[in-house]
Amino acid sequence: MSKVRIEKLQKLDQETLERLIEIYMSGYEGMREYGGEGESYAKRYLRWCWNKAKDGFFVAKVGDEIAGFIVCDNDWYSKYEGRTVGAIHEFVVDKRFQGHGIGHKLMEKCLEYLSRYNDRIELWVGEKNEKAMKFYEDCGFRRVEQSGIWVRMVKDIRKDDKGKRES
Ligand SMILES: CC(C)(COP(=O)(O)OP(=O)(O)OC[C@H]1O[C@@H](n2cnc3c(N)ncnc32)[C@H](O)[C@@H]1OP(=O)(O)O)[C@@H](O)C(=O)NCCC(=O)NCCS
Repeated sequence: MSKVRIEKLQKLDQETLERLIEIYMSGYEGMREYGGEGESYAKRYLRWCWNKAKDGFFVAKVGDEIAGFIVCDNDWYSKYEGRTVGAIHEFVVDKRFQGHGIGHKLMEKCLEYLSRYNDRIELWVGEKNEKAMKFYEDCGFRRVEQSGIWVRMVKDIRKDDKGKRES
């Protein structure tokens, strides 16, 4: 596989949006209840992500092709924490590209970015999405509570640690 580059997404034009939807649909294949509600949902949700967290919207590129993306929000009011924390709103790698380290590269970028602003990151993951939960645990997240079918996970980060991994 050619070299993977992580870049900040510069603009969400129609072509890019369509590619991100494709990745979203492929990444969540077989997990309809957690993200596969359909393309029109994906379109609305990805636009919402872009408007909420433009500065933390990173894509992984293999050659000219976007292979995955992560949406990192440095200004998320968590009602569970009662304060503002960092949040990962979306994280998905195209099925064809999974298992080659792209997810880890995106996460590394996310930690580097959010550690400039936040001391804690939260995310929600589907209760049966064991693969993703294991991935997050390997990255130092821990499960803290469940609401319906969603599990909340958090990771404490040292502010300004420039993305150094902690476990
Ligand atoms: C979670 C997700 C983003 C991870 O992306 P990924 O690119 O597959 O992640 P990586 O390749 O970095 O890591 C996955 C595994 O591949 C292994 N791996 C890492 N580098 C590798 C390489 N160069 N070659 C082969 N395998 C590699 C990792 O060790 C890891 O294995 P482990 O889970 O046993 O530790 C991806 O599975 C996905 O899109 N899932 C569907 C959407 C989803 O659930 N998102 C999270 C919702 S909250």
